[in-house]
Amino acid sequence: MDSIVMETVWTQVGSIDDIPVLGSRVVRTPDGDIALFRTALDEVFALEDACPHKQGPLSQGIVHGRRVTCPLHNWVIELATGEAVAPDEGRTGHVPVRVEGRSVSLALGEAKLSRGGCRKACGHV
Ligand code: FES
Repeated sequence: MDSIVMETVWTQVGSIDDIPVLGSRVVRTPDGDIALFRTALDEVFALEDACPHKQGPLSQGIVHGRRVTCPLHNWVIELATGEAVAPDEGRTGHVPVRVEGRSVSLALGEAKLSRGGCRKACGHV
């Protein structure tokens, strides 16, 4: 029996230089706004631009380490997974990111926005 291997489709969304260090930039997609975050170490993460608490705009939050603090009620969200840091609970959608040189791409087809997690790259469901 043959197996079907689905290749990841990467969508180029700009340069890492378009994202401020310890800041963010919003990418608009048909499935909703995605916030790209850049850490002090030039790591890039992509989350749905909606806090798991009450949908606050995470793109306007404070980036520290590999986390962002929501501007509305100060929940802290893990950039790599979109999960709220305890004692808070919840998770926002996250999108696999690829950085090649200065170019940033997203695997939008693997994102499962509004429910948290991605379909493939990180193992979340
Ligand atoms: S909406 Fe983000 S902490 Fe409340």
